[in-house]
Amino acid sequence: MMYTKMSSQWLLWTFGAFLLALTVDAQLSTTFYSSSCRNLTARVDEIIRGHIRRDRTLAPSLLRLHFHDCFVRGCDASVLLNSPRGAQGEKDAIGNKDSLRGFEIIDDVKTKIEAMCPGVVSCADLLALSARDSMRAFGNITWSVPLGRRDGTVTSASEANSDLPPPFGTFSSLSAIFRRKGLTVKDMVILSGACLFLREALY
Ligand SMILES: *[C@@H]1O[C@H](CO)[C@@H](O)[C@H](O)[C@H]1NC(C)=O
Ligand SMILES: *[C@@H]1O[C@H](CO)[C@@H](O)[C@H](O)[C@H]1NC(C)=O
Repeated sequence: MMYTKMSSQWLLWTFGAFLLALTVDAQLSTTFYSSSCRNLTARVDEIIRGHIRRDRTLAPSLLRLHFHDCFVRGCDASVLLNSPRGAQGEKDAIGNKDSLRGFEIIDDVKTKIEAMCPGVVSCADLLALSARDSMRAFGNITWSVPLGRRDGTVTSASEANSDLPPPFGTFSSLSAIFRRKGLTVKDMVILSGACLFLREALY
């Protein structure tokens, strides 16, 4: 049991560091909304905490939603877009269809933050904060989230199919996919393990 708890915490802590490496940008800043939406981070944390209290299985799902968003066109919330009429979007990609969940949680966060700070905070930032706060609520694991992302408007299943690690990829094809995002084999093992481990631990 102890082993289980420590492993999951270690995985998640390290996972956070990698997401940070993946998303960090010179223009992003943890204080991006400090004057335009003062109480943003406290409010998102409170909303997410409420959801995780009701359903702990949402924590790995929100983490995975953020991870899959970042792998396609960067962390721009494109994973949240519905598929365009007559076309397939990221939601229809092999690694996403019927396995991504937590969309309604992000909708809830967005609705509540819009009520507080209309038209200020991007969905991409809310997704990044929600993933972090779900881990904080789940296991008191946290990392810092630089803010200021812009939301994307393009979503494509074919792009997601080529960018996301496929469920049955070989070691070498998977390592190449992570390398393309600036991530090492160690990062890959930890990223994959964090989502899988949590799912195993929960279901
Ligand atoms: C900020 O949000 C938290 C969580 O919702 C709340 O407890 C606190 O009172 C809020 N602070 C202000 C200044 O609105
Ligand atoms: C959460 O982690 C922080 C930093 O490691 C620690 O100070 C705090 O006591 C922890 N809180 C809980 C509820 O475990």
